[in-house]
Amino acid sequence: MAWPIRWALRIVITAHMLAVFVQAVFAGRFLSGDFEMLRLHFINSQVVGALGLAETALAILYWRPGRGRGWPALACLAVSIAEPLQIASGLLRVIGVHVPLAVAVFAASVLLTLWAWRPTFGVRRSTAASEERR
Ligand code: HEM
Repeated sequence: MAWPIRWALRIVITAHMLAVFVQAVFAGRFLSGDFEMLRLHFINSQVVGALGLAETALAILYWRPGRGRGWPALACLAVSIAEPLQIASGLLRVIGVHVPLAVAVFAASVLLTLWAWRPTFGVRRSTAASEERR
């Protein structure tokens, strides 16, 4: 597996997870009465969406031609489909959808980050198995 793709995927997945977490921080500050935070929440929603698309593109490259696992590409695709819905539900103030969807996006982002930092990330399955046996 080409290391630039592996490292780019790792970094973008992590940055995306942190950007989603920061959304919750801005939302919490906004709900505490700091109304300027809603503007930052809106600006950061574009960062979250862009990083979601970038991680999807990288996860596809990681799968083909990288010959890595395919499920992360599907998971990233699901996240980047959820994010426009997240932005729309925020703008339309459909909070009953917006908050649970945010929790789901954050949970998926944390799981992807844990996967991306596993020691066997990007190592072929046969190589990983022999490394674990050592
Ligand atoms: C994937 C992460 C998220 C994205 C992309 C996102 C996006 C947005 C957008 C675009 C808005 C409209 C902003 C505006 O009107 O200028 C919004 C509003 C809001 N979001 Fe989020 N959001 C995310 C996560 C969260 C989280 C984690 C929470 C709370 C736990 C949250 C709570 C809110 C609240 C309370 C509003 C304001 C609704 C109102 O004005 O009545 N959001 N969000």
